[in-house]
Amino acid sequence: MSLVNIKIEGRPYQVEEGLTILEAARQCGYEIPSLCSFNHGECNPGSCRVCLVEATGARGLAASCVYQVAEGMEVLINSPKAVAARRTSVELLLSNHNVNCQQCGKSGQCELQNVARIVGAREGMFKGEKTPTTYDDVSPSIVRDTSKCILCGRCVERCKNAHGNGVLGFQNRGFDAKVGPAMDISFADSPCILCGQCVTVCPTGALLPKSEIDKVDFARAQGKYMVVQTAPAVRAALGEEFGLPIGTPVTGKMAAALRRLGFNRVYDVDFGADLTIMEEANELLDRVKNNGVLPMITSCSPGWVSYAETYYADLLPHISSCKSPHQMQGAIIKSYFAEIHGLDPKDIFVVSIMPCTAKKSEKDRPQMEVDGIRDVDAVLTVRELGDLIKRSGMQFNRLPEEGFDYDIMGTATGAGVIFGVTGGVMEAALRTAYRVLEGKEHDAVVFNAVRGFDGIREATIAMGVLDVKVAVASGMANAKVLLDQIREGTSPYHFIEIMGCPGGCINGGGMPIVRHCFLPNEDVDIIDTYRAKRARALYTEDERNTLRQSHNNPQIIELYDKFLEKPNSHKAHELLHTTYAGREPFRVQDR
Ligand code: SF4
Ligand code: SF4
Ligand code: SF4
Ligand code: FES
Repeated sequence: MSLVNIKIEGRPYQVEEGLTILEAARQCGYEIPSLCSFNHGECNPGSCRVCLVEATGARGLAASCVYQVAEGMEVLINSPKAVAARRTSVELLLSNHNVNCQQCGKSGQCELQNVARIVGAREGMFKGEKTPTTYDDVSPSIVRDTSKCILCGRCVERCKNAHGNGVLGFQNRGFDAKVGPAMDISFADSPCILCGQCVTVCPTGALLPKSEIDKVDFARAQGKYMVVQTAPAVRAALGEEFGLPIGTPVTGKMAAALRRLGFNRVYDVDFGADLTIMEEANELLDRVKNNGVLPMITSCSPGWVSYAETYYADLLPHISSCKSPHQMQGAIIKSYFAEIHGLDPKDIFVVSIMPCTAKKSEKDRPQMEVDGIRDVDAVLTVRELGDLIKRSGMQFNRLPEEGFDYDIMGTATGAGVIFGVTGGVMEAALRTAYRVLEGKEHDAVVFNAVRGFDGIREATIAMGVLDVKVAVASGMANAKVLLDQIREGTSPYHFIEIMGCPGGCINGGGMPIVRHCFLPNEDVDIIDTYRAKRARALYTEDERNTLRQSHNNPQIIELYDKFLEKPNSHKAHELLHTTYAGREPFRVQDR
């Protein structure tokens, strides 16, 4: 690594050659206002001109997100010329923007709003015609409003990097340019898997999760019996909405907040995750013993399921028939729980708090109901829960530590907690599959080979006479490699875990926004490290749990004894399993 000597604001620094001025300045303790630039070029850099600085060799002003440092370069961030240029750039952007910040779902976390305040942008400096816009709120998961788009291209690159054949692109030229699905169709009609990765990188309110807060308010006003359940990844990130460092687990405060928001029962989806493992591990062993379709692939991620239904319909028999944990738990709440508490399932309203935008769509699938009773009624993202708590006036950081409700499904194992990170479902399944096959616990609880963030990980676990070969992938670009092997008949695996979002749910589309500009006290490499910090929070909770295998959860054992009979029983199939169907990538639906 060679170093170059530069000066910023007249002070000498040594920085790595090849860095952009923006990156180098960040390492030296300066945050240059920026907008289109993101995560090592995962964007269309140089398009917004918000990051202009004076730099020697740049013939005046340079876009610091693309211009690289050079030996002897002198950079001025705070000169009158640089300050005025940045302000003009932001004012030009605002001149073609629907500036209704008060009603905008991104207000307070909007990078355009943030830079407008920093550069002191003035209202109405450039007036004229605005680009014709598209507003798409048809899908259950994502709202697209191009009147807020700054054409940074972050969403285009993120979708392409995560999923290979990206859904989004630039359309038209010049003044009429737009970003969206091909032919400007709705997300709902496109091959989009509604994972929300594009939403997490969008700097403005152009892409937002579709809010279901009104639906929850309405159910409460109707006097419904309100049950809430939170996914494993939520506890690892909710604190970020309240200024806590990334990776701070907030399980106790989250339970306390939910109770104070008026929910009659507060449950952890980790119980549903344990239930999923019982069903899935037994399904796997049944397939192995009875020459069933292998490799079996996990089904917890609706983004992945949607991708399979769109692009790999021929491989649908490989996907486990298990519903995802929150859907399973919703079905148990509307049956077993309702029966025990003498409640009419129609009067129960189940809300899932999820790290995921695709779960909003999953809960609406026609298959996710039993006898006309929906498993889950509303899905809120972590950010929506943060908004609800803020709206209530609670000071989150001063809440006491409380537990989940204990009755019926209040116990969860460490295996359920690690579902939130890529490799977690596999690790949890291996802990139980070994026990089912061998009749004893595996010596190891932790299976390091399936942990980490490499695109594809694999392991071989000896189980009796069988060497079980497994693989883990997250993001569809990685999954595609494993899926093509199956198609070609060369897959060596028995069991594959696939998650839609790169890194799993801890990086889901409904998680808190991670940005340098909003986290000035975090390390400069935070965009690279936040997933590992959130994952550590979950692995630590697993380590602290005295129960670490789903089959040792006493309430799961009781549920089978008293209600479901045994894993994969007729009743279990009725409530906890589902079906899939191929779909066209592009389709026009009646609406
Ligand atoms: S995207 Fe940002 S600047 Fe635009 S209306 Fe929303 S909050 Fe305001
Ligand atoms: S939701 Fe996911 S699949 Fe759809 S456009 Fe965004 S990143 Fe791509
Ligand atoms: S939708 Fe958002 S991320 Fe995509 S180009 Fe527009 S502003 Fe950028
Ligand atoms: S942030 Fe550099 S040009 Fe947009």
